[in-house]
Amino acid sequence: MNKPFSIKALHQKVEQAINALSLTKKPQELYGPIRYSLAMGGKRIRPIMLLASCNLFDENIDVAVNAAVGIEIFHNFTLLHDDIMDNAPLRRGNPTVHSKWNNNIAMLSGDTMFVKASELMTQCDDNKLREVLEVYHKTAIEVCEGQQLDMNFETTDNVSIPQYIQMITLKTAVLVAASLKIGAILGGALPEDAENMYLFGKNLGIAFQLQDDILDVYGSPDKFGKQIGGDIILNKKTYLLLKAFQIADRYKKEELANWIFAPQFDAIEKVQAVTEIYNYLNIRELAKKEFEKYYALAFSHFDKVPVNEERKIEILSISRSLLGREE
Ligand code: IPE
Ligand code: IPE
Ligand code: MG
Ligand code: MG
Ligand code: MG
Repeated sequence: MNKPFSIKALHQKVEQAINALSLTKKPQELYGPIRYSLAMGGKRIRPIMLLASCNLFDENIDVAVNAAVGIEIFHNFTLLHDDIMDNAPLRRGNPTVHSKWNNNIAMLSGDTMFVKASELMTQCDDNKLREVLEVYHKTAIEVCEGQQLDMNFETTDNVSIPQYIQMITLKTAVLVAASLKIGAILGGALPEDAENMYLFGKNLGIAFQLQDDILDVYGSPDKFGKQIGGDIILNKKTYLLLKAFQIADRYKKEELANWIFAPQFDAIEKVQAVTEIYNYLNIRELAKKEFEKYYALAFSHFDKVPVNEERKIEILSISRSLLGREE
């Protein structure tokens, strides 16, 4: 078999396929935000993973390009709606669709992207169609379940860490898992191998959301491209907040609770104060440890996939670079 495609080559394939979509239709208010969202870049983690997973089992990855673009459009759809739900002003360093246009436009453009994504997912080998759609549909519903739990938790004050892990599994991890599994299916993997790719992606996805929660507090605004402290403002039950409540003494717990339950507050002041409590409790390091746990678990599943180590190198380096662990 030929050498596997490099991350760069996979990224280019994804960009080309996205650019080839015909999105210049009317009404402009519907398609403009879709083009805006897809042209703003993003890391393209999911489609790159999907293609790399296919490439583990098959040299020809063209069979998976539609599904890869479908997954990326689905992801961008979730972001349009997520940014409304999270009242987020910034995404990828630019105004979010709902703040540049309005909520109705962001909802409807998002809906259209969801349908477009589904249409692309059906454009694969007939023999694999049912299996691919089963994974995709199950995942799409789970993402909605996770998003609802994420919102429910904003106003729930006894969320446990296992409940948090379950919530991020649904809202984030299963989509990474599905990307790897769909890629494997389209590459002709055996069911057992496709399942191990799923478990690899699920744990990688959990690590990825833990990292996102860390960056929401500690990221550099330029690189992160999103509002820093957004999770703190909304009382999101992130690992950082739950762990802080778990290990704080009576006084720090009370200080934290005062911010969480404050009916009114200055956003900048709250972000600063809660961050200081996190710093005092060394929460960043503890969250990083939890990240490491899931990162290692992910690779224990990847190790079970019986593919030549040489073909695994690209997926390893993709995972490292996407999770900011270039060594
Ligand atoms: C953002 O995902 C949503 C989360 C699951 C944290 P990404 O960090 O992959 O977003 P982009 O597409 O690269 O902007
Ligand atoms: C994102 O969770 C999950 C989905 C979009 C489905 P977040 O709300 O943490 O994602 P960001 O931080 O806005 O990208
Ligand atoms: Mg959000
Ligand atoms: Mg959210
Ligand atoms: Mg986030």
